Amino acid sequence: MLADKDRIFTNVYGFQDWSLKAAQARGDWDDTKALLARGQDSIIEEMKASGLRGRGGAGFPTGLKWSFMPKESKDGRPSFLVINADESEPGSCKDREIIRHDPHKLVEGALIAGFAMRARAAYIYIRGEYIREAETLQAAIDEAYDAGLIGKNACGSGYDFDVFMHRGAGAYICGEETAMIESLEGKKGQPRLKPPFPAGAGLYGCPTTVNNVESIAVVPTILRRGASWFSSFGRENNAGTKLFQISGHVERPCVVEEAMSIPFRELIEKHCGGIRGGWDNLLAVIPGGSSVPLVPAAEIMDAPMDFDGLKALGSGLGTAAVIVMDKSTDIVRAISRISYFYKHESCGQCTPCREGTGWMWRVMERLRTGDAAIEEIDMLHDVTKQVEGHTICALGDAAAWPIQGLIRHFRPELERRIAEHNAQFQEAAE
Ligand code: NAI
Ligand code: SF4
Repeated sequence: MLADKDRIFTNVYGFQDWSLKAAQARGDWDDTKALLARGQDSIIEEMKASGLRGRGGAGFPTGLKWSFMPKESKDGRPSFLVINADESEPGSCKDREIIRHDPHKLVEGALIAGFAMRARAAYIYIRGEYIREAETLQAAIDEAYDAGLIGKNACGSGYDFDVFMHRGAGAYICGEETAMIESLEGKKGQPRLKPPFPAGAGLYGCPTTVNNVESIAVVPTILRRGASWFSSFGRENNAGTKLFQISGHVERPCVVEEAMSIPFRELIEKHCGGIRGGWDNLLAVIPGGSSVPLVPAAEIMDAPMDFDGLKALGSGLGTAAVIVMDKSTDIVRAISRISYFYKHESCGQCTPCREGTGWMWRVMERLRTGDAAIEEIDMLHDVTKQVEGHTICALGDAAAWPIQGLIRHFRPELERRIAEHNAQFQEAAE
């Protein structure tokens, strides 16, 4: 279990004040000027050595991503950092806790990350539903300006850096990095084709890096305590500490910081008081937010909760939004509801996603009631394969994977419903 002294988010439960004074007492903004004095390349190398992988879901190495940013400005174009606070993945609520209770970690991280990638400013794009969080974040930004920590000559470093907050309007797709950039530019939030990646052409056509809130908020602590301290948690390729968000049928749902690679059972026993009704009552777990396939109880028990451990089970760590389902769950209905979510949130730009998400949801609904032909299970699986990898952004994959997981692990349940429905129909006809 992660010791208290090794927690980065020491105020994640809001036991203390979030304000600048209280944050400084906890060690935030402590001689940030000296951290900046290490120089851009040195900071990027330290981040690479820490092994930090993006905490927004995809797990791309953070230091490597920063190194894609140009060292020299072309045609006088500025570079930008965009911070993704549009946390909308069902099950995910960690960035909300950071913004509510530890916003100065994010603002300080923005300055250091922005400096390292030679950015002129950071735009924090916060989801529209986070109303009180937006107020807290803006107040923290204002405090940092007033104290000379950001803005002109930030922290007395000679470096000018602005931080702007931008509120979204409730579209899940604006959490996709290029849709977010479109939205920031005042356009309809629709993903762009990649490449070019944002580091080449991002916000207003300028070099841009988009990072998740948690990825940025851990930066100051990693630099203060050192890359080797951070990488001592977890295991190779899965380093560091991580905020896990555990919801569903556990005794005590929570958001908790733990070492990466902690086994599932240990995570739940230590922080959630176990499964509702005992371990025998566990049915399945969606370990990384609604985009990743479910894992049945028997397979996840001893699994390391990290990128590689969950990938080996055909799922993923995603945002580490762990959705626990006990045997009272109608698993087909749960996945069908997720399908509806993706159908609703599809931006409609590409055909496999626009048509496929609606098609998949309609079949899922018929499988839920059993009003389907047995061959439709394979047909549905085939459609998920035609959507996966054939769309502009990852929403198509995210819609396909949960259904694939359901068919892989719960085919007998789908068949049972169809057989039961047919039997009832036959009975009624006789
Ligand atoms: P991705 O794998 O396409 O990209 C990850 C990051 O690496 C991006 O910033 C991308 O620009 C960068 N990148 C990848 N290859 C690159 C290259 N060759 N050169 C330069 N940069 C490169 O994944 P994406 O679409 O950004 O994210 C999908 C993930 O987001 C899903 O796994 C899902 O779990 C998660 N997600 C999280 C949500 C949340 O609320 N936090 C909401 C929805 C999805
Ligand atoms: Fe839009 Fe879906 Fe295509 Fe993404 S995959 S661009 S959400 S239609």
